[in-house]
Amino acid sequence: MSEEYKRRYTFGADYGTSDYKFGPISLGERPKIMENRGYFPDDSSIMYELMGGVREVIVGDEIPLFLGAKEDLATRLVYPMRNGIIKRGDKRAWKVIYEITRQSLEMCRPSDPDFDGFYVCASLSSVAPKYMYEELFKIYQQIDEETGLVKAVTIIPQPLAVAIAHKVPTCVVLESGHGNSQVCPLSRYPIRRAIVALNRGGGDANNITSQILYDAGYGDLAKEEAVVRRVKEAIGLVPRNLDDAIQRAKREPEKYRVVLKIPGTRITIDLDKEPWVRFLIGEFVFNPNHEIFESYFKRGMPRPSDVKFGDILFRGMLDFGDAVVESVEQCPVELQPYLYSRVLLSGGNFQWSAPESYGGVAVDSATKMGLMLREKGIEDVKVDMASEPKFSVWRGCIVYGYSVPVKYEWSWDRMEGWLRLR
Ligand SMILES: Nc1ncnc2c1ncn2[C@@H]1O[C@H](COP(=O)(O)OP(=O)(O)OP(=O)(O)O)[C@@H](O)[C@H]1O
Ligand SMILES: [Mg+2]
Repeated sequence: MSEEYKRRYTFGADYGTSDYKFGPISLGERPKIMENRGYFPDDSSIMYELMGGVREVIVGDEIPLFLGAKEDLATRLVYPMRNGIIKRGDKRAWKVIYEITRQSLEMCRPSDPDFDGFYVCASLSSVAPKYMYEELFKIYQQIDEETGLVKAVTIIPQPLAVAIAHKVPTCVVLESGHGNSQVCPLSRYPIRRAIVALNRGGGDANNITSQILYDAGYGDLAKEEAVVRRVKEAIGLVPRNLDDAIQRAKREPEKYRVVLKIPGTRITIDLDKEPWVRFLIGEFVFNPNHEIFESYFKRGMPRPSDVKFGDILFRGMLDFGDAVVESVEQCPVELQPYLYSRVLLSGGNFQWSAPESYGGVAVDSATKMGLMLREKGIEDVKVDMASEPKFSVWRGCIVYGYSVPVKYEWSWDRMEGWLRLR
């Protein structure tokens, strides 16, 4: 009986740096999405009082309505996660997590009379420290006390979720989202000591896109994060080989030219003179070490830097090929061939398109990774791309929540099982 109940009310929650992906099993293939951020209004203002204020933090679709005064955005708009991590005492950040979690569960409350709370499977970065699990459990406990929406909860690392979604027990998962990337080998369980973390993700591709827009005469747009992201996704290309792609695009600029109109505005972006720069965006994601990027760094584009959070070092400039090799080589030698033969890419930062009309000069992410690994001397490589890379973590949460029997209680030693809230 309780198994059947759990299968009906499994709920997945993927805490990404930029987007929170969530929703119950009944959604099917695609989760709902809310930006992982919160706005703290100025509660001392009279207008706030008059407009019936009281809420400490605003999340979700209402945020844009509060974004009037640009000056105080930096202090009032809080993105709680950096590299997938929240500091222990960061009250505001945890408050945002509480709020998006509560709102997401409320949004999905079923109307069935027998509903008595979800079985939530949440997912955090593979490098999330134990106290983040403790804090998140506390948040679900509190939400359940206030709303009755959560019966039990479990937390799994994102790479494990990806492996589960694709039903491959032995593999290397390379997850690249907005803020960071993580390489995690798995052999049924994540091999934690072999995790390699990078301080590089889609946000860095935005940085180079912003510089490209600036150089092309669109200085105003270059400052607007949301526009930059759109442009990046529309024009960025991953080159099979950067030097070769640049040469070809310089020879035939017309072939690679793009004209992009921003819907709902009068803005048109036309990279007519130098369409070859499109290849820089994709290359930068995989390997920011080509000498051509130096001139961009010199002009002020941020260089992805090494940062330390707790005892984990997030590497800035390590290329994705070296990252995978470094991770796999920390695993037993006998296991290594199996890992290379199943490399799984997931995360929105791999969602580059490779139009056929470019005849293989632009490639997809799996092809690029395969090439990079072969260049490093690994012969038997197989790289696969998650079918919907942005949603594979959420899907893995759903499969995990659906499959793990209710009787398994949460264990801090094994970091698995259900924490029953009542
Ligand atoms: N079609 C696309 N082409 C290129 N990049 C894309 C595309 N679609 C999404 N992205 C990028 O993917 C990133 C978001 O990916 P994702 O949702 O996996 O990140 P996240 O889970 O929020 O962050 P993280 O996993 O780092 O915590 C953004 O930088 C976005 O611009
Ligand atoms: Mg993510």
